[in-house]
Amino acid sequence: MAVTPPATSWHATGSVSADEPLTTKEGWARWANHTSSPPELDPGWRALPAAARAAYDDRRLDYHSDLIVVNTPTIREVITTVRRLLVLNRRQISARRGLIVTGGAGTGKTTAITQLGRAHELGVALRHPGPGQRIPVTYITVPPAATPRMVAVEFARFLGLPLTTRHNLADVTNAVCAVLCDVGCELVLVDEIHNLNLATRAGAEVSDQLKYFSERIPATFVYAGINVERANLFTGIRGQQLASRFTTVATRPFAYGTPAQRDTWRALVATLEQALRLHQHRPGTLARHGEYLYQRTHGMIGSLSHLVRGAAIDAILDGTEKITKAHLEAIRLDHAAETTPAAGPKQKRSTRRSGVA
Ligand SMILES: Nc1ncnc2c1ncn2[C@@H]1O[C@H](COP(=O)(O)OP(=O)(O)OP(=O)(O)O)[C@@H](O)[C@H]1O
Ligand SMILES: [Mg+2]
Repeated sequence: MAVTPPATSWHATGSVSADEPLTTKEGWARWANHTSSPPELDPGWRALPAAARAAYDDRRLDYHSDLIVVNTPTIREVITTVRRLLVLNRRQISARRGLIVTGGAGTGKTTAITQLGRAHELGVALRHPGPGQRIPVTYITVPPAATPRMVAVEFARFLGLPLTTRHNLADVTNAVCAVLCDVGCELVLVDEIHNLNLATRAGAEVSDQLKYFSERIPATFVYAGINVERANLFTGIRGQQLASRFTTVATRPFAYGTPAQRDTWRALVATLEQALRLHQHRPGTLARHGEYLYQRTHGMIGSLSHLVRGAAIDAILDGTEKITKAHLEAIRLDHAAETTPAAGPKQKRSTRRSGVA
């Protein structure tokens, strides 16, 4: 399957600030409605006065710090599956069906569900233009060692509901449900669901709380978490109920075994390469290093993005304006990528050590 860039490329976390995180309605709306276009390359860049050149480079550094989100097969599958569920759930009074996105750490779960949320939010805005009180998407994360109250408070925090310690669980739950029904919430995204362990009493209670929300709010629920099938999420009576109502989509590293998988990887690399804004970079250079990039990153899109963005930033800072093998070699990746033994095709030590491309 080909990897194509989204119709409009947007930054992964563009416009999210620390005081307005994605888990607040303001932060979410700002991020979801944020559009950015890549900086134009100025043919006269060499002749720019020092201050203008510094500002010009800084805009490009900023852009490369948060490059694009690639429309991967996983993101497409999540969006298609949930679009279908949203329609199927329209006439369900309760027992609505949902989706669980599950996979290893850093395989793109949060990116997939937030892109889904963004696509839905923009779709709703198209269908209902003009100002209004709509909040079509809610995004929360399950805190570690969560209790039902903590999860209810996460919803309340997203909505900006004024709460004090005097409000008990029922107060918070009622307020959250009333507001989410009023504002027409259709999609509830619950991230970090692996923080909930159904084998523990607290975990079971949180699961019941989420189920209660899903019965009172006429929305489709999407959960994301690390290898949830191994984290007791589908065991016991509650787990069986979840398993019977939720479809799963698995996120995993890209593979490199078959010709089709290698094509997909190369398409991913080429998509990131097309997004670069460097003056001397010849298109196709990174695609040629596809195998090397796979060996370095083990097919992890986050590591690949880090490597390419880091090399692009170095290429701007050192003035070469093109990514070379030396730039790629100089970037240290995350612990997992640096310590996992080489996967896929046999590691060629000579290529790993060969300096400049
Ligand atoms: N489709 C994509 N295009 C570009 N970068 C991506 C894409 N998907 C994931 N990434 C990058 O990969 C990294 C990990 O992604 P993300 O946080 O979505 O993974 P995760 O599975 O939620 O991780 P965790 O298990 O830590 O919660 C991030 O830096 C993200 O920007
Ligand atoms: Mg995540």
